[in-house]
Amino acid sequence: MDAERIIVEFPSRPENLALARVIATAFATRLDFTVAETEEISVAVSEAVSNAIIHGYREGPGIVRMELAVVDGVLEILVIDHGCGIPDVDRARQPAYTTSEDRMGLGFVFMESFMDELEVDSAPGKGTPIVMRKRPEREGGERAATGQSLPDR
Ligand SMILES: Nc1ncnc2c1ncn2[C@@H]1O[C@H](COP(=O)(O)OP(=O)(O)OP(=O)(O)O)[C@@H](O)[C@H]1O
Ligand SMILES: [Mg+2]
Repeated sequence: MDAERIIVEFPSRPENLALARVIATAFATRLDFTVAETEEISVAVSEAVSNAIIHGYREGPGIVRMELAVVDGVLEILVIDHGCGIPDVDRARQPAYTTSEDRMGLGFVFMESFMDELEVDSAPGKGTPIVMRKRPEREGGERAATGQSLPDR
């Protein structure tokens, strides 16, 4: 197991969406993302986690897992649910495709346009693992180790 990988698991409750966003954007500070890029990461995580909550676990609550890593200067975010899964991933990724009347069907479109890569590997009955990757636009994206220390007490 990659010792640098951060793993968080939380119940699929709407109030945990903001928590997931904050954790992901805090983690993203390890790379030299601009404020605008950080906002894009926040939206993409929000869309992925809300999909797990709303669609994945539509039949009852479950656990959402988020994994965060920096791999060769690229931010990698996994969002995994073990809910109902997606029968046809290609169709689900089409703009404006939704199975909920009251939704826009734009979640995957946002994830795709705000991140550099999006992989959706879902299977009915197994759940939906999503991988998103983003590299900072700025040169030398990885921050130098700042040697940040624990506060003195
Ligand atoms: N984690 C998931 N588990 C099961 N089905 C999913 C999951 N994520 C997405 N889907 C399916 O894919 C469809 C498209 O997802 P997408 O996020 O693009 O749109 P939406 O969630 O319906 O609407 P919006 O994101 O705009 O509120 C969903 O309507 C749902 O049927
Ligand atoms: Mg959505």
